[in-house]
Formats: sequence, structure tokens, C-alpha cells
Amino acid sequence: MNTIVLFLLTFTIQNSWGHGGEDHSKKKSPKVVHNSIVADSKELEVVYKKINTSYLKKIKPIFKTSCFDCHSSQTVFPWYYEIPGIKQLIDSDIKEAKSHLDFSNDYPFISHDSPENDLKSIEKSISEKTMPPTKYLWMHSDAKLSQKEVEEIKKWVKESLEALK
Ligand code: HEC
Repeated sequence: MNTIVLFLLTFTIQNSWGHGGEDHSKKKSPKVVHNSIVADSKELEVVYKKINTSYLKKIKPIFKTSCFDCHSSQTVFPWYYEIPGIKQLIDSDIKEAKSHLDFSNDYPFISHDSPENDLKSIEKSISEKTMPPTKYLWMHSDAKLSQKEVEEIKKWVKESLEALK
């Protein structure tokens, strides 16, 4: 049993919480547009509010369990966070995740992209099962999205994109 834990831990150390191992460090760092996004019209503001209402009700609870550790300021740090060397790896993963997409302030999300594209990229990551990252799931099995949750998120994205048209 101890050997297994040690093995997993070694993997975790090597891969941090792991995402695909993609190196984004060479890319230009994205411009962070804060979500004090001013909707250019009253109409758009109403749509954002509507999308957020259904986000809060149906999606946020799912994201809290599966995404907030990396994409928000509400990280629940794992016990191995205190192990020397691990802290830096996890911190840099969180920093990178948040530079892409930060769910801390609800919808519209803090992001380097538009509120509409954020929805599309969420749909893509869910469909392609790239999020939450597999290596993170090894240590956080409760974060794995069930088929029902996947459907729920897809439905919310679809309805939201329609509302934004
Ligand atoms: C272990 C940390 C971690 C968890 C948990 C996690 N992500 Fe990520 N996510 C990242 C990192 C790091 C990136 C940036 C690098 C990349 O794209 O792989 C990212 C990128 C993304 C992107 C691409 C954003 C863009 O504009 O390029 C989306 C969308 C996304 N995550 C959605 C989610 C969703 C939805 C969840 C929960 C279901 C989730 N992530 C859980 C670490 C995480």
C-alpha cells in the first residue's frame, strides 16, 4: 500500500497536478481582461445576468468540486502541498490555469478571451475530456465529471450561446 502511495506521489511530483504537459511558457502571456466587463448594452447585461443565474444554480456546484482548485481563488490545497518542491509546482499550475480562465467572480468569467469564447472553450475541454486534467484526477477522484454533469454543462453552454446570439 505504501509503495503505491509513494509511486503516485512520485508521479505527482514529476507532473505537478498535471495537465497535458503542454508548455505555454513560451507563448505571449495572455492579456487578462477583468470581468468588470462592461456590457456595451443594457440588453447584453441582462443576458449575462440570465446566464449567471443558471450558472449559479446548476453549474457552479459542479465547477466547485471539479475546477475551483485550479481556476479560482478558492483552492483547497492537498496534504502533499507542504512537501518541499510540490508547492511551487502546484502554485505555477494554478497561476497558469487562472491566467486562462478564472471562475472566482462567476459569469462572465475573468479571462483573456471573450465571455462567448469562454463558453466554447469550456464545451471543448469537457467534450474532449481534457479538463479536469487526468493526472489531477488520480489524486482527486471526486472531481471526475459524471456523464450527467457533462450533459448539464453542455446544455448550459448551448442555452447560453443561444441567449448571446
Ligand atoms: C489541476 C488543475 C486544473 C483543474 C482541476 C482544472 N483545470 Fe482547466 N486548466 C488548467 C491549466 C493549467 C490550464 C492551462 C493549460 C492548458 O490549457 O492545459 C487549463 C485550461 C483550461 C481551459 C482552456 C482555457 C483557454 O482559454 O485556453 C478551459 C476551458 C478549462 N481549463 C476548463 C476547466 C474546467 C471546466 C475544469 C473543471 C471541470 C477545469 N478546467 C479543471 C488546470 C486545471
